[in-house]
Order: sequence, then C-alpha cells, then structure tokens
Amino acid sequence: KRVAILISGGGSNMVALAKSMTGDHPARPCLVLSNVPGAGGLAKAAEMGIPTAVVDHRDFKGDREAFERAMIAAIDPHAPDVIAMAGFMRILTPAFIGHYAGRMLNIHPSLLPKYRGLNTHLRAIEAGDAEAGCSVHEVTAELDGGPVLGQARVPVQPGDTPETLAARILACEHALYPAVLRRFVEGERGFLSL
Ligand code: GRF
Repeated sequence: KRVAILISGGGSNMVALAKSMTGDHPARPCLVLSNVPGAGGLAKAAEMGIPTAVVDHRDFKGDREAFERAMIAAIDPHAPDVIAMAGFMRILTPAFIGHYAGRMLNIHPSLLPKYRGLNTHLRAIEAGDAEAGCSVHEVTAELDGGPVLGQARVPVQPGDTPETLAARILACEHALYPAVLRRFVEGERGFLSL
C-alpha cells in the first residue's frame, strides 16, 4: 500500500509514520506534500528518500478549489492508497475530501469530540481537564469530525502550559498515528486506545 503524507511544518508526525513503514509493514510512504515552501518536514522527507512536492496555497489567492485541484494533480501521479494528514494546517473542502473518501486520516491534538479546531491545549488547561490527548480520525467534510480510530490519553499536570502539554501529547501522537495507520491499511476499523 502507498501512503501520501500532507504536512505544513516540522513534520514530526510524518517522520514517525515514515519510520514505521518498514519491514513487514504492508505500506510505504510514496509522497510528502507541503502547502508551505521550505517546511522543515520537506528536508526530513528528502533525507529519508521520500518524494516531496509543494503546492503553495498562497499562489491561489483564496481560490480554495483551484488550490485543491493543484494538490490532487501533485498527489495522484504517486497513486496513493491512503492520504495521511500530519500537521497539515489548511481546511479542505468536501470536493477534496470526496476525492479521497474513505482513505484519508488526520491526527488532531485533543480527545475528540472535545476541542475541535485550534488551541486545543490551552482550552483543556483552561477547562481544568485532568486528562488530554490526541485522536486519529477518518477525514470527513465535518472539521475534525470523522470516525475516531484511536486515541492516546495523557494527564494534565499542575503548572502545565500549552507548550508543556503540547510536548507531552506530541510524543503520544508519534506512537498513536503509526499504530492506527497500520491497522487502517490492514483493514482494521476498530478503536485503538493507547
Ligand atoms: C502539532 O501541534 C501536532 O499536535 C499536530 O500538528 C502539529 C505539528 O505536528 N498534529 P508535526 O510535528 O508537523 O507533525
């Protein structure tokens, strides 16, 4: 199976996913695409020998559909079976999501359905939550709303800042996403709790 990974920044989740796809793993990374030129993850992908592409959303002056058509044109020649969004920070329209229906995953740094959207760590701290975490879900037209395939939970500690909590959760993302991706590729759809 072939996995295309979409990033916007450092790509630490992309690295974790790529490193997991070795040996008897049924999938291999076929492309890393970024909407941000020069994103740190692009250099990491190139070092790992993974083809890369950039489709800069700023070149499409707010024409979301044109941007997404350009992304599809960059992705589909690599014939991915699965699209894994990993720190990809653009909202996608139902047209793009429909094109990859049923084979697109995303990782979100909260215990969905809590805290869809941004600033998840600050919101968990301000709410006084004892726990926080991350979720891998199938991507549907509803933002951060698709079926949740796995979650990892961490304690919120006294004195936590959004940064300290984010770091604790990011480490969990790097374990959760590869585990869920492998199950997804192998046809598993049950919920994984780490
Ligand atoms: C992180 O905030 C992570 O929680 C979320 O995307 C951001 C960047 O991740 N999934 P990465 O290092 O680019 O994978």
